[in-house]
Amino acid sequence: MSCHKKAYITTPIYYVNDIAHIGHAYTTIIADTLARYSRLSGLETFFLTGTDEHGQKIEEAAKSRGKSTQNYADEISATFKNLWDDFDISYDKFIRTTDADHIKGVQKAFSVMVKKGDIYKDTYKGHYCISCETFFPSIQLVDDEFCPECGKSTSIVEEESYFFRLSEYQDKLLAYYEAHPDFILPKSKRNEVIRFVEGGLQDLSITRTSFDWGVKLPEEMNDAKHVMYVWLDALMNYITALGYGSDDANMDFWPARVQLIGKDILRFHAIYWPAFLMSLDLPLPTHIAAHGWWTRDGEKMSKSKGNVVNPKEVADAYGLDNFRYFMLREVPFGGDGDFSQKALIDRINSDLGNDLGNLLNRLVGMSGKYFEGKINSAKVATYHQAELDEVHASLEKLEPLLYEMQIHRYLEELWRPLSVANKAIDTYQPWTLMKEGKEEEAMALNGLIAAILAKVAVMLYPVMPAVCTKISQALCFDIDTATWQTLIKESALLQPFTLEKVEPLFPRIEELLLEQIEPIDSKAETKTEKKPQTQEEDKTEGIALIGIDQFFQTSLKVGTVVSAEEVPKSKKLLLLQVDVGEQVPRQVLAGIREWYSAEEMLGTQVCVVANLKPATLMGLKSEGMLLAAKDENGLCMIRPEKPKTAGTPIG
Ligand code: MSP
Repeated sequence: MSCHKKAYITTPIYYVNDIAHIGHAYTTIIADTLARYSRLSGLETFFLTGTDEHGQKIEEAAKSRGKSTQNYADEISATFKNLWDDFDISYDKFIRTTDADHIKGVQKAFSVMVKKGDIYKDTYKGHYCISCETFFPSIQLVDDEFCPECGKSTSIVEEESYFFRLSEYQDKLLAYYEAHPDFILPKSKRNEVIRFVEGGLQDLSITRTSFDWGVKLPEEMNDAKHVMYVWLDALMNYITALGYGSDDANMDFWPARVQLIGKDILRFHAIYWPAFLMSLDLPLPTHIAAHGWWTRDGEKMSKSKGNVVNPKEVADAYGLDNFRYFMLREVPFGGDGDFSQKALIDRINSDLGNDLGNLLNRLVGMSGKYFEGKINSAKVATYHQAELDEVHASLEKLEPLLYEMQIHRYLEELWRPLSVANKAIDTYQPWTLMKEGKEEEAMALNGLIAAILAKVAVMLYPVMPAVCTKISQALCFDIDTATWQTLIKESALLQPFTLEKVEPLFPRIEELLLEQIEPIDSKAETKTEKKPQTQEEDKTEGIALIGIDQFFQTSLKVGTVVSAEEVPKSKKLLLLQVDVGEQVPRQVLAGIREWYSAEEMLGTQVCVVANLKPATLMGLKSEGMLLAAKDENGLCMIRPEKPKTAGTPIG
């Protein structure tokens, strides 16, 4: 941790060739949580986000839509900004790399590097991936042609280029990583970077002549045909946003405390960026923190893959704060996570509804019934010092966990006080205390529960600001630096107050609220789980037994595959048209491509679940499911032993 009194927190700036998906929302929500905690703990905080708008990729995206590049960039940049505003993201500045001050700042940085002797001119020949805006050495290419990062075709580009002497920084970087073991978080990622740098760094081509949608070189270079490499341009945003190269207004926020990124752009942030900063004689950020990927059905999520989960839809359906909690709690920072509505619903009903919301309800019930909602903490320490000690021991662990980016553990630890509270109610039973005339003890218990709820609300506020504000209103206090100081740092209790009414915070969710974003298989799973177990005792080796009538609720039919093709952007799915004896064949998406080719499926017979609700996968409707069996050796279709007429019922 730095002892800088100011805290600067950044997200990557997002490319404007893609609309925002939950991956982008994840980075931004983590950064927002850190910024909110930082402000709450009294630090002067500057939180930056924005859009990355230059480069060939954007130029091409605009062209393909028949728009001018600037108009197109304006449009998409606004969709990001609007989304963050809708999400109440507490950014202090939204930077665009097309901002005049940013451009000035990048040119200034270029000039400084030239003066330093770190930039020289040469020619470059290599395999270039437009999509990743990166050159790759031929040994890294897949099948001698395809980009190792995104799989798209690369082209050979030979051009005059300015180079940055990255090779000069190899030893300095290694020494820096060695001296600052927390520079790259999580630590597992640090080793990857070190190994890469130890493998040798080549000088970096930092200008392009093949397109012109980019920052021009500083005038004194007198070389109009070059524009800057997007990554040089983009990385500089972190300092130009503070006024580097223009008014320097906020440069005292530098170095950043945490720069949040996804693991895909670690190399740029942990190698190039520090080298550029060293060249500019600026200090390096305290932490570069790289999170993992959100996937859908195990695949990376991106518009080009067509498997994007829209964060706005999820937040609208399930609640913004619930979505924030889910994302931060579900996946250990640095690891990958697969998005599932079912997991989201479980978190809402269980962690939020049962543990937190219900605790507040219990307090409202107890204090309303026995004390007209009045709460007085005077005797809490007399009766509940042990519980208070346990709660404070947990609270003390929280801040370090956040600074180490162990946010899921932060939330896990924050739930301990809630369980202390719920357990205290069960153990001391206020209704029994009241029956025995122990009013003082019952009031002390209420005081304990109120204090725990208040403390949890303060520490949960950065993750769930709206919900925690409601809790604090019910408990008649404000969440701010002063209450953070007293309730958390000084272990204080609440002043006497009367509990305000509060509507239920987490109404129970019984069904998937977003049909179209759930893969078919997990949909089926959720359905089965939700069905009441009519014969719970009838189990054979853990399998619930059902009656024949229940079995016949499933309509199984023989189908003939009359058309089969691959779903272009999916490695798993085949798109089949299956005749099940109806007027038109059913369209079925089957996740079998790893085991069966389209040709192998065409003309064969299959068993179809014919009364499943249709679902949409990768934008395509699926109107049935095929039966298959899968073990560690792979998957095989279940088929009629002899040919049968399409539509023949199975059972
Ligand atoms: N413009 C560059 C960053 C320049 S920073 C100087 C860029 N932009 S991006 O829009 O493609 O991605 C930005 C960030 O979004 C990634 O680093 C990553 O943090 C996040 N994600 C994009 N897709 C993601 C997932 N599917 N899952 C999690 N995060 C991902 O890279």
